[in-house]
Amino acid sequence: MTTTAWYDSHADWYVTHTQEWQPTAADFLPPDLTGQAVLDLACGWGQLSRVLAERGAAVTGVDVAEQLLARARDLEQAEPAGIRYLAGNAAGTRWWDGTPFDGAVCNMALMDIDDLPGAMSAVARVLRPGGWFVFTLFHPCFPGRGDTLSSWPVDGGYGTERRWTTGRDGVRGHVGANHRMVSTYLNAALRAGLEFEEFAERDTDLPQALLVRCRRPR
Ligand SMILES: C[S@@+](CC[C@H](N)C(=O)[O-])C[C@H]1O[C@@H](n2cnc3c(N)ncnc32)[C@H](O)[C@@H]1O
Repeated sequence: MTTTAWYDSHADWYVTHTQEWQPTAADFLPPDLTGQAVLDLACGWGQLSRVLAERGAAVTGVDVAEQLLARARDLEQAEPAGIRYLAGNAAGTRWWDGTPFDGAVCNMALMDIDDLPGAMSAVARVLRPGGWFVFTLFHPCFPGRGDTLSSWPVDGGYGTERRWTTGRDGVRGHVGANHRMVSTYLNAALRAGLEFEEFAERDTDLPQALLVRCRRPR
């Protein structure tokens, strides 16, 4: 299946906009990843990939947006961390050399990936038995606050699952995103054969992020 590299025409804006962002998954991941082969799926310009490498992981970053990968590779060249960046569709495994990963992360990106079942199946396939998978999402139940609109399309409701743009600033204003119900995400993981381990929500007054840890059964 082909996919659209939505971020390629917004790469300069996105890199500037996210310069100060701390990857949401960072404090949900083990502080020590020494010796683990870790996949950063939909890695963007490699912010989280570099955190994973600092923690001792052998990191492979995969993304469909060549313009973001170019930024990631520039950083890798300037300050080598041993990260391998590959161009590829997260909803398939054509980029994979067949060597299983100990763990995988998809940070704030599943809502950007148009083929959710494809991405979950790909993760389940590339993990070793017992391997872990952490994903973080813009919370599908977020009802909006201040200038930030709800997760779901404003001309629809929570159950309106489709790609949409806010027409404002921010990532959904520039690039757009897919709204899906929380059950859709969780069922996609289950149908790919993954087992859930832990959930978290940030911030708890009005959560904007949902964090999930699951595992491929042994
Ligand atoms: C909001 S960004 C998050 C990037 C990165 N994970 C981070 O935390 O900075 C979403 C990313 O998903 C990538 N993406 C969207 N669809 C994809 C696909 N089918 N395959 C691979 N990457 C994809 C985009 O190119 C973009 O880099």
